Amino acid sequence: MIVVGLMSGTSADGTDAAVVRLDGAPPALDWQVLGHTHIDHPAGLREEIFACFRPATGSVDRLCRLNFALGRAFGAAALAAIAEVGLEPRDVDLIGSHGQTLWHIPFGRDASTLQLGEPAVIAEMTGLPVVANFRTRDLAAGGQGAPLVAYVDRVLLTHPTRTRAAQNIGGIANVTYLPALARADQVPFAFDTGPGNMLIDDAARRASGGAVQFDRDGALAAAGRVNECLLDELLADAYFAQSPPKTTGRERFGEQLGAEIWRRALASGTGVRDVVATVTALTAESIARAYRDFLPEMPDQVVVSGGGTRNPTLMAMLRARLPGVDVVTSDLVGLDPEAKEAVAFAVLAYETWHRRPANMPAATGADHPVILGSITP
Ligand SMILES: Nc1ncnc2c1ncn2[C@@H]1O[C@H](COP(=O)(O)OP(=O)(O)O)[C@@H](O)[C@H]1O
Ligand SMILES: [Mg+2]
Repeated sequence: MIVVGLMSGTSADGTDAAVVRLDGAPPALDWQVLGHTHIDHPAGLREEIFACFRPATGSVDRLCRLNFALGRAFGAAALAAIAEVGLEPRDVDLIGSHGQTLWHIPFGRDASTLQLGEPAVIAEMTGLPVVANFRTRDLAAGGQGAPLVAYVDRVLLTHPTRTRAAQNIGGIANVTYLPALARADQVPFAFDTGPGNMLIDDAARRASGGAVQFDRDGALAAAGRVNECLLDELLADAYFAQSPPKTTGRERFGEQLGAEIWRRALASGTGVRDVVATVTALTAESIARAYRDFLPEMPDQVVVSGGGTRNPTLMAMLRARLPGVDVVTSDLVGLDPEAKEAVAFAVLAYETWHRRPANMPAATGADHPVILGSITP
């Protein structure tokens, strides 16, 4: 099958679309990424998403409109990716769309999750069946609905002899621990390590008075100095000490925390670039600590994906904190770092289409394996 995967992560920067050829079934899944496209959200859409993230402004009529507006953006991204690899929609079999997460409550009595981007709109624009709403069934089965990519990491990235960590650094950062095939004594599992680019984006926005949306090439952080005292305070967040399975999101590491960090930093005389450097170090340090505290052993190799790979200051901080570990970007294993999550949702849609469960209970905490998603035929 040829499947298009669509992803719009917690950064809400745009849509990633990957076209993937898939054959067979895990663990012997044949996969080939034919190509991928990234389309930035137009400024108006991004602002609307952020307005809907805020409980005070995310009204029900706005959410209603946003659901369809996102559906159109995803449909357009799918068509662009299909055209870019020289295909027509009729050459494609299926679309897997993650949707834009608006809110995510991973556990407790109110456990629930909301991804928007109306699949009916995508199906109508492309003429293709769409699998969407991947997280809900896992939550209904007692899981946290995340991380779902863990299943795909295991299928695509398990190495015969080397233990790997697949580390994605999107808005949030998550890791999948992948014991070498030869290590029958260990099982793969996954969790969110904490913030990825989210607080960096927030600090860069504040440092520039809203002129930039992210710290391009890590330049602001490179020009700043880490405030170790503030860093220690931030690392005291209870999330980092909590044992996996665990997931987090904008509810915890979003604008509210960004505003508080900004207030505290300026009150203590920390410069604006230093704030960016400090939250960049927070991402790197929280990842390294999570490995030390929660992985059965240090991995031989860390395969990094997501927009964070484009930030050399962050990557250097991460490498410095993982001495002796081979830290590489995922293109080294045939997966463009920006396309990887979109590829993952193509694979998950393919699994759903074949009625195979694709949550990993060891990652999500679900009571049992479930077939993910809803199908719009
Ligand atoms: N050239 C760059 N320099 C620094 N950071 C970048 C660059 N390009 C992308 N990023 C970071 O990557 C983020 C997007 O990463 P992505 O993996 O798409 O996250 P998500 O899955 O949450 O959408 C941006 O918000 C930004 O922080
Ligand atoms: Mg993105």
